Amino acid sequence: MHPLAQRLRDDHRHLTRVLDFLEGRIEALARAHEVDLDLVRDAMTYITEFPNRLHHPVEDVLFASLAATDAGIAAACREQIAEHERLFHDSSAFYGLIEAIEVDDATLPRDVLVARGRDFIAAQRAHLKREDDHLLPQAEQRLDAAAWDRVAQTAAQVDDPLDATTRPARYEALYRALSRLPA
Ligand SMILES: [Fe+2]
Ligand SMILES: [Fe+2]
Repeated sequence: MHPLAQRLRDDHRHLTRVLDFLEGRIEALARAHEVDLDLVRDAMTYITEFPNRLHHPVEDVLFASLAATDAGIAAACREQIAEHERLFHDSSAFYGLIEAIEVDDATLPRDVLVARGRDFIAAQRAHLKREDDHLLPQAEQRLDAAAWDRVAQTAAQVDDPLDATTRPARYEALYRALSRLPA
């Protein structure tokens, strides 16, 4: 597997772990349990910032290359690229809801937060699944190593904040919460 393909799959694995955590907190809210909203906000910071700054731009280049190989897959590639923009918008909007409820608990009924959270998580998971099940395997089949290398050159050297070897202090509380989840 090309290192970039591995890296994208690793990103998905980390993102899925954060989505699992977020889902657990949203379902706890749904059961009217007390939830540490600071940690929910940390999870949303990760979901909003990391993929949108460092993961989606790489995929945009990859899927544009894939689209050029086959008219049959071009529409799916364009749709996935367009969805990155929508996911960023959705992430920012949901982050705003969490902030609002932290500032003033009465601003927003909990059931609205729960419903929006469930929709948000479902959209994120569906996006990842299309890539893991369809677009990444297609890219691995149709693009040769030189094409993958060209895409990799456009990817800035970045460290995933959830990578255990880096662990910036900002994500320490989130990292500890994730480590308590079942593997
Ligand atoms: Fe994506
Ligand atoms: Fe992705």
